[in-house]
Amino acid sequence: MKSTIVAPSLLAADFSAAGEALRLVESSGAPWLHLDVMDGRFVPNLTFGPKMVADLRRRSSLFFDAHLMVESPESMVDGFIEAGADAITFHVEACVHAHRLVERIRSAGRKAGVSIVPSTPVSAIVELMRCVDLVLVMTVNPGFGGQRLIPDCVRKVSEIYEFREREGLGFDIAVDGGVNGDTAPRVRAAGADALVMGSAFFESADPAALVRDVLALPGPRA
Ligand code: DX5
Ligand code: ZN
Repeated sequence: MKSTIVAPSLLAADFSAAGEALRLVESSGAPWLHLDVMDGRFVPNLTFGPKMVADLRRRSSLFFDAHLMVESPESMVDGFIEAGADAITFHVEACVHAHRLVERIRSAGRKAGVSIVPSTPVSAIVELMRCVDLVLVMTVNPGFGGQRLIPDCVRKVSEIYEFREREGLGFDIAVDGGVNGDTAPRVRAAGADALVMGSAFFESADPAALVRDVLALPGPRA
């Protein structure tokens, strides 16, 4: 069984103190930093671009997990590759020629991920799951942190987990949106390997304890 990964999301941090946020993530024991890129078109919000990722990259060896919530992700991936993102995840809803994009990300030596919003069924990525490194299931409608997890989306995590095990595939399963100390056991039990946490992490009085508790959760079928 894959081990659990905690991926604090910078979105919930104070952007004027991004360096401090980075140090907090590093000292918490979380191995990944989740970087939410929003373009004001695919989602109704704007965040940051490759420069932020490049600036943080110079200060950290965390695994940088870039989540592109953008239209035409193929026009942006090169910037994030150059900036030093370790994984680049795009939305299947925003990309027609997804295999080509996966190939481009992987040929640059980075992990390629595909994500689905709550209204997209798992069937939309059946063809892609054989060639990606990461599948990210959104459990809120993307655009903002601090929303409540939509319980029905957890069923999709189980569906993807079953598919992966049945087909003997190796991609990681990530869950993003409304994951906190209360909901994490449910998503981990459903088969999520990587748990993205924005507000739960940055609003926690003891982020290291939160990470420790999540890393100790029993996995699927345990
Ligand atoms: C939402 C982003 C998430 C966000 C999650 O559109 O993709 O990564 O940071 O925030 P929380 O954990 O607060 O729901
Ligand atoms: Zn995200």
